[in-house]
Amino acid sequence: MVGKTILVVDENQTSRAYLLNVLREKKFQVLEADSGKEGLITAWRDNPDLILFDPIFSDIQDVEFIHKLRNNARTNKTSLIALSNDSGEMRREACLEAGVNEYLVKSADAMRELDRILGLVFEGGKAEVPTSAPVRAEKREPGLLIVFLSAKGGTGTSSLCANLAMNIKGHQPDAGVVVADLVLPIGSISQIVGYQGNLNLVTVADLPSGQTNGEYFHKNLPEPELWKFQLLAGSPDPQHGNNLKGDRIGEIVDVLRASYDFIILDLGRSLSRISLPLIQQADLIPLILSTDLSTIKLTKTVWEYLRSQGIDEQVIYAILNRAVGLEGLTKSEAEEIIGFPIRTTMPYMGSNFALANNLNQPITTKYPKDTASIIFREMAGEMIKLARHLRARQP
Ligand SMILES: Nc1ncnc2c1ncn2[C@@H]1O[C@H](COP(=O)(O)OP(=O)(O)O)[C@@H](O)[C@H]1O
Ligand SMILES: [Mg+2]
Repeated sequence: MVGKTILVVDENQTSRAYLLNVLREKKFQVLEADSGKEGLITAWRDNPDLILFDPIFSDIQDVEFIHKLRNNARTNKTSLIALSNDSGEMRREACLEAGVNEYLVKSADAMRELDRILGLVFEGGKAEVPTSAPVRAEKREPGLLIVFLSAKGGTGTSSLCANLAMNIKGHQPDAGVVVADLVLPIGSISQIVGYQGNLNLVTVADLPSGQTNGEYFHKNLPEPELWKFQLLAGSPDPQHGNNLKGDRIGEIVDVLRASYDFIILDLGRSLSRISLPLIQQADLIPLILSTDLSTIKLTKTVWEYLRSQGIDEQVIYAILNRAVGLEGLTKSEAEEIIGFPIRTTMPYMGSNFALANNLNQPITTKYPKDTASIIFREMAGEMIKLARHLRARQP
């Protein structure tokens, strides 16, 4: 049992301390949480092998807690044991129905029973998940792939990518959301969100592929404060960028798709041999335009190329970003040139936008009442819906 991790979720401090102590003596690794919501966050972040919890929480209903764990790819197979003061049939039935493996009533006997169950779970493989539990299918569907592109630098692709990803997580707090900065030779999302660590695309691509599995990313990718998603940072400088093991990228994105619900890529204006297959797999392609004629014309060229590579127009989600002020083309003038509809216009925010970026804050946090924040929230909701709809259409 050495090396197995058990998360104890119990609002009662004495009870929690007691359980942690017993489990530590049995040489388990332990994690703890003092509320239902903390329990969920810890479970999804740290992937314990088993969760032992008192189902009576002040911040979430017992059944909802269990459903959230069972409906999330990271915990749908984790063993769940309820250890409750409530010996009533109602709660026991409800918890079993919702998907716990065992329901025990706190008592001296319960500890002996728990011992037996832990033995079963960890020596005979994981306990079977009851069939009544609404678990996802064995082979989970890959997460939704959202690929940000532009025809030219400076149109606001990276800022929009980070801010929309943050709002997607805001709409779907239980979902696993990862942003990967694939802009070469130097990425910029770390700078926008304020990440200064050394874990990035280049260092990850240098690791043996056996090591960079889903668990590795969930455990190690940073979750920058305020932004809520996990980040696979881009190349920190051109020298690293040029040393990138490019042939690992497809595989890394595959792993991310297998273990997150939303995989959001910043490709910038790259249409390379490496990025094309990612664009072709995308469920949705936010294409960022600015209002100047040259960018719009270039976008038309890029779109013609994408179409020739089999990209469906429906997947394109064009955003006109007024990154440089009010001059330039109107939405309908731009639409006429590119030949497909623009879904949303992002207003010019003057120096506020750069200020939020420089403070490493999301726009919706820094200026929650600004029109731009309202648009970010709405756009994120629409993108989620559209990406799901397009996925459902696929054969
Ligand atoms: N709607 C906007 N209003 C004002 N400034 C913006 C807006 N969108 C982007 N910017 C600014 O434009 C610059 C370029 O943005 P960035 O996201 O780095 O573009 P890209 O990734 O396409 O090169 C940044 O300084 C950013 O703050
Ligand atoms: Mg960029």
